[in-house]
Amino acid sequence: MNALFEARELRKSFGGVKAVAGISIEVPEKSIFAVIGPNGAGKSTLMNLLSGTYQPDSGELRFAGRDLTGLPAHRRARLGLARTFQKIRLFKQLSLLDNVLAGFHIHHQVPAWQYLLPGATFWRDWTRCREEGLALLDFVGLGDLAAQRAGSLAYGQQRMLEIARALATRPKLFMLDEPAAGLNAAEVAFLLQRLRDIRERGITVVVVEHHLDLVMKVADHVFVMDHGEFLFEGPPKAVQSNPSVIEAYLGGEFESGALV
Ligand SMILES: Nc1ncnc2c1ncn2[C@@H]1O[C@H](COP(=O)(O)OP(=O)(O)OP(=O)(O)O)[C@@H](O)[C@H]1O
Ligand SMILES: [Mg+2]
Repeated sequence: MNALFEARELRKSFGGVKAVAGISIEVPEKSIFAVIGPNGAGKSTLMNLLSGTYQPDSGELRFAGRDLTGLPAHRRARLGLARTFQKIRLFKQLSLLDNVLAGFHIHHQVPAWQYLLPGATFWRDWTRCREEGLALLDFVGLGDLAAQRAGSLAYGQQRMLEIARALATRPKLFMLDEPAAGLNAAEVAFLLQRLRDIRERGITVVVVEHHLDLVMKVADHVFVMDHGEFLFEGPPKAVQSNPSVIEAYLGGEFESGALV
């Protein structure tokens, strides 16, 4: 297996709650890896450990062969890890384009003094970032709204803007925490296609999601957790018909024999 991202025996507790209790994953390069599980299963905590928002109590993390232990989130972002959050985090007062431009910030090629005295490198960089930023807004269906304030967008559009901003960091690995939450059916279909396009661009995707229909259509591999622990993993079809997964979701009621 060609794993881009590996975690071994990750653990994280909050007081007495074992949010993540010994989770190991291997994310193959250029695939879509979905993490599912009931409410409180530890999915967001796992994502926070992968992105560096939290440090684990114990366990190991490797990205492209590099040990990430102890490395904070902003250093991981520079290595090519990007993410979105379950609760939207945008600069609501800024325009859509400025929100995306903020994502480019981590790779600016401009010497610091040129911010004070703009020179040729500054303007070249600025023009290139603007063009790329507009292309990313087009990619998420918001190209016509570039000058609007982010706070004026509908909920689903804000979610797509977050995706554009994260892509502006030019990630190798892109993690999304419940991108379909609160989206209508048309928006979910659009998101599904964009996730496929992102994989096409050679970016590896880790997606935490409650929307099982989306997961089953888009994921190459599904990892199921419950109560902070590993429950099952495999291709969507195997997960869908696994009795322990169905039990975790439906509390033991096993009616249709399949989840979706
Ligand atoms: N910062 C925190 N402080 C205290 N407890 C926390 C914290 N973050 C998570 N927990 C607890 O850890 C457990 C796992 O939470 P987590 O948010 O990771 O689950 P989740 O699978 O993302 O749930 P959901 O599907 O509702 O988003 C829960 O019992 C939660 O209350
Ligand atoms: Mg969560």
